[in-house]
Amino acid sequence: MRNKKNFLVTGGTGFIGSNICKLLIELGHEVTIFDNNSRGELKRIRELNKKVKFIRGDIRDKKKFFKSLKNINSIIHLAYINGTKYFYEKPELILDVAIKGLVNIFDGCKKFKIRELYLASSSEVYQTPLKIPTSEEEPLKIPDINNPRFSYGGGKILTELMGINYGRKFFTKIIIFRPHNVYGANMGNEHVIPELIQKMRKIKKNSFLKIQGTGKEIRSFIYIKDFISAFHKLMTKGKHLQIYNIGTTQSIKIKDLVLKISKIMKKKIIIKTSSLKKGSTKIRKPNIAKIRKLGFKPKYTLDQGLKEIIFN
Ligand SMILES: NC(=O)c1ccc[n+]([C@@H]2O[C@H](COP(=O)([O-])OP(=O)(O)OC[C@H]3O[C@@H](n4cnc5c(N)ncnc54)[C@H](O)[C@@H]3O)[C@@H](O)[C@H]2O)c1
Repeated sequence: MRNKKNFLVTGGTGFIGSNICKLLIELGHEVTIFDNNSRGELKRIRELNKKVKFIRGDIRDKKKFFKSLKNINSIIHLAYINGTKYFYEKPELILDVAIKGLVNIFDGCKKFKIRELYLASSSEVYQTPLKIPTSEEEPLKIPDINNPRFSYGGGKILTELMGINYGRKFFTKIIIFRPHNVYGANMGNEHVIPELIQKMRKIKKNSFLKIQGTGKEIRSFIYIKDFISAFHKLMTKGKHLQIYNIGTTQSIKIKDLVLKISKIMKKKIIIKTSSLKKGSTKIRKPNIAKIRKLGFKPKYTLDQGLKEIIFN
């Protein structure tokens, strides 16, 4: 294969990482995964086992991380602590992994002359945006320094700030992407859609199903297969020092999502709402014109994606 590269994927046994690794293998690249498996799982890469090299390590461990960088041409940096409950319970850990991880990524790239880097940011950098749908030009913010939730978005803002400023000087290709509510099979249960499906499987017909928030919050969920096709466009057509939203413009109220899942699973339930956590945003919907210009077209409706994960 022409342009065959040696990729290092941090967070590669995670939900998005394992799917990116599958894409890289399909494209004929060499892949090394660096993950401490705090949320990653080897079963996600079982089918790739012989084709990828797995290094169990913490991104904050400079020595071990640097050892993994020999012969690497490109890094996809995904390792990060995810899951909303950790934003509130372990904000200092989120920032520790975010910041020490970033310093090691940039020092490692400089030392080993790695000139290509993809950095995972998040829709959380917009917090409550001024404009909906939200484009990449939206100002990034930390609305309340005392709210631990913003440790997550704050770490991502730093990721972008370092990415752009180091990027100008040391890289030939650095691309930042902001995923918006990606869902799919094997993503772990600490996310909206798998949590709802799991609860729905367990409860009896016509009983109460408690959801987080008022149910009126609006989100746009992108199916992992569409996410991967967007990421492929980023790799082949994305431009140096550019930032791209990855998401879909189909949006839905959480209560309608619950009803949709209950209809697909043929289980009638009664929704019980709760108060919204401080700092949670009411509506999230990306403007994806920029990634569309690279040729990305989402293919999956929410119904199609949900049916694939519920019935497979
Ligand atoms: N899934 C989404 O909807 C979404 C939305 C916005 C942003 N993102 C970002 O995309 C990236 C991938 O997300 P995901 O959904 O696959 O999450 P995930 O939790 O499944 O994957 C993250 C991986 O990082 C690993 N990790 C955590 N701390 C580590 C450390 N100290 N050292 C080494 N590895 C460590 C975990 O074990 C896990 O495998 C993350 O950076 C996340 O912030 C995801």
